[in-house]
Amino acid sequence: MNLKQKILVTGGLGYIGSHTAVALQEAGYEVVIIDDLSNSELFVLDRITQITGIEPEFHQIDLKDADLVNEFFQNNKVDGVIHFAAHKAVGESVQKPLMYHKNNLLGLLNVLEAMKENEVDHFIFSSSCTVYGQADKMPIDESAPIKKAESPYAKTKQIGEEILEDFVAAFEKNVISLRYFNPVGAHPSALIGELPKGVPNNLVPFVTQTAAGMREFLSVFGSDYPTRDGTAIRDYIYVCDLADAHVKALTRLIQKQNKSNLEVFNLGTGIGSTVLEVVKAFETVNNLKLNYKLVERRAGDIIEAFADNSLAENELGWKPETSLEESMRTAWEWQRSLP
Ligand code: WQD
Repeated sequence: MNLKQKILVTGGLGYIGSHTAVALQEAGYEVVIIDDLSNSELFVLDRITQITGIEPEFHQIDLKDADLVNEFFQNNKVDGVIHFAAHKAVGESVQKPLMYHKNNLLGLLNVLEAMKENEVDHFIFSSSCTVYGQADKMPIDESAPIKKAESPYAKTKQIGEEILEDFVAAFEKNVISLRYFNPVGAHPSALIGELPKGVPNNLVPFVTQTAAGMREFLSVFGSDYPTRDGTAIRDYIYVCDLADAHVKALTRLIQKQNKSNLEVFNLGTGIGSTVLEVVKAFETVNNLKLNYKLVERRAGDIIEAFADNSLAENELGWKPETSLEESMRTAWEWQRSLP
């Protein structure tokens, strides 16, 4: 009799998904991964196994195929689902809005439908601070108004949360939506980390690829923002601290400690850092000089976002411990491990 709770991690070979799969296994959960490999690599499965000594069960399934999703749930009794599987490049979503809505929302709907049909009661949703747009007040807490999304990607997260409101209202399900700020860094083993395809959209992989000589220089998008050094402010959260929050959130649901059937938590450090402060931290901790240029602002960027994470700290018993410098050290170690 296997007493371990079995958890489905969709998108589990991706950046945050793979770190969460490791954290779940280390917390004693059995992990089964579904991934369509559209934005991830199969070798990550071996790396997870190398870190924990336990190979997660893996199924390559496109969540847009309802029959395959249903067949999976009929053949695999799971106790909960952590749903990461989604496209997440803001710029790309502007070019390909229908692909983003179809992939992110149809995938979500097929998983929820299969959960209903197969009596799976616990669901963790990978959401984003982008649902707040440019918030009026810092730090941003969960009561901040949801503003008109700046991109189709952000819209899929807002619509996803609205779908979940209807899902829990109609069925006896328990859901937690986790709104990430900016995930950064890599596992201390340097065996898993961020694997952007093509030219990175996000800051930190562009920094590490510049330091590795793969990019000539980092373009700092905008130096005329109304901030302490003119560059934009974000809340950079270490990916392993983020993974830990997912384990705590899932455990909260399984142990029926949730206070309502749909809870929302901001996952950030509560500390805002400017782009130049990220560059400085990277240079200092890795003892190197980064080649960067101050250029025009990037369209769609907000000026400032950092989290009030007190709800997650109080309710999940979660405390992000890792400094920006340590995150930057792990990011560089991971980059150097890549061929
Ligand atoms: C961070 C800062 C850029 C690249 C995105 C998604 C959001 C969430 C987090 C998933 C900004 C600046 C960046 C570069 C730069 N992802 N920058 N040069 O835009 O805050 O949020 O990641 O949930 O949905 O939108 O992250 O890393 O792209 O940018 O100066 O080459 O770095 O202008 O100020 P962002 P980012």
